[in-house]
Amino acid sequence: MTGTYAHAAGFYSGDRPRIVTSRFEHADSYSLERYLATGGYQGLRKALARPATDVHDEVKKATVLGRGGAGFPAGTKWGLTPEGVFPRYLVVNGDESEPGTYKDRLLMERDPHQLIEGCVIACYAAGLSQCFLYIRGEMAHAQERVAAALNEAYAAGYVGKNILGSKFSVDVVLHWGAGAYVVGEETALIESLEGNRGMPRLKPPFFPAAIGLYGKPTIVNNVETLSNLPWILTNGAEAYTAIGTATSPGTRMVAVSGHVKRPGVYEIINGTTTFRDLIYGDDFCQGIRNGNELKAFVPGGGSAPWFTPDQLDIPFEGPQAGAAGSMLGSGAIMVMDHTTDIPAAALTLTRFYAHESCGKCTPCREGGTWLERILRRVVDGKGTDADLQQLIEVGTSICPGDFPHASSTRLGLAAVPFPYKMTTICFVGPSAYTPVHSALTLFPEEFEARVTKRTHIPVTAVGVGE
Ligand SMILES: Cc1cc2nc3c(=O)[nH]c(=O)nc-3n(C[C@H](O)[C@H](O)[C@H](O)COP(=O)(O)O)c2cc1C
Ligand code: SF4
Repeated sequence: MTGTYAHAAGFYSGDRPRIVTSRFEHADSYSLERYLATGGYQGLRKALARPATDVHDEVKKATVLGRGGAGFPAGTKWGLTPEGVFPRYLVVNGDESEPGTYKDRLLMERDPHQLIEGCVIACYAAGLSQCFLYIRGEMAHAQERVAAALNEAYAAGYVGKNILGSKFSVDVVLHWGAGAYVVGEETALIESLEGNRGMPRLKPPFFPAAIGLYGKPTIVNNVETLSNLPWILTNGAEAYTAIGTATSPGTRMVAVSGHVKRPGVYEIINGTTTFRDLIYGDDFCQGIRNGNELKAFVPGGGSAPWFTPDQLDIPFEGPQAGAAGSMLGSGAIMVMDHTTDIPAAALTLTRFYAHESCGKCTPCREGGTWLERILRRVVDGKGTDADLQQLIEVGTSICPGDFPHASSTRLGLAAVPFPYKMTTICFVGPSAYTPVHSALTLFPEEFEARVTKRTHIPVTAVGVGE
């Protein structure tokens, strides 16, 4: 079987192992009936028959890397809460809004019981008193599906008091966001849950595991991370680590968009699948549209530094993507073919991050807007070579690094040290500069062709807002 097209647009399976998307092909994949008929809630049943510490150890052994962006192992994170401090909470991050990312939405819409089961297992294993499931404001369909599934789960005794006749009880509370990208950042999400404006907290010194929601120890986990748990508890950590590599076990969901023949969400084997497999493979995207040439691709969501065709053989493995100067982030790949207007593509991404700045720190609030305005001028053919220097200077004020400022129009940019040093509280600020820096570094000629070269630049011409 190659490239089976699932019942609704956008998801494709093949002969690959499927851990979190195994039910997607059923039209009623979201119902309790289908869930139970396909092994649902077996993982929870097995977990509750074991001591909580055993379940925690099983998840640690599986090395479930967080799928929200940072890739921190879930079992290890659960162990970071201080002993004896209660209540302690699980916060589920369903705010998915990184450009290009749309996998958690599918998991919530197509298999909400899997997520709910994962939440209850996590609460049991990590000794958490209550679960808050936060879903992005715009995802009305996901909200409806999760709410309906939660009602079913309560009625059937999978959530609530004395779950499945055990002594373990936990409640799951649903919360809808208002549609802010920055609220995906875990401390901003906690602020939003508390009823405050969704602005990130300064960390260090305090991380949510120690001081989180309502000042109590809090574990924040991504939707996909938690959706892996039912399978792991049903099949065991050994079966999980038998898939993928030692450092990146299991599978992961990736969303591919842009100029490929078959964009969509794929569950791939972690660590071994390469970007070439994904973009050109028959089971995956089947190559570039119209037989065009690949120009560049964003490997891990809009915040990630870009890759070029010579990096296609890098596998989907965090450390290797990191060594190549980027990240896998939220698992979103955006593909650009040779017809792409690179400065315009960079502007699209930068504009998003500038717009989503919460305004708490100056380099992001002011810098993002400056980057957007200067870049807009360049894209419109009204920029000068001084504008290009200005882009670099503004970018460097957000994420300082070794950026030689060339005085000629050859920009001579060095690769940004990654992960960035940053002058901001969270990653939104640097994310506004990433597309600009990638585009300028990789395709300087496209910018040079756009600008007028001047030796004397009147002050007003390098400012913004003209
Ligand atoms: C600006 C920003 C946006 C983020 N957006 C999301 C998001 O939409 N979903 C998510 O799970 N994690 C997001 N994260 C990462 C979270 O802060 C957090 O690390 C994650 O939810 C932890 O879950 P995990 O360990 O299971 O990956 C974002 C981080 C930043 C800095
Ligand atoms: S980097 Fe931007 S989004 Fe993040 S806290 Fe600062 S101003 Fe807000």
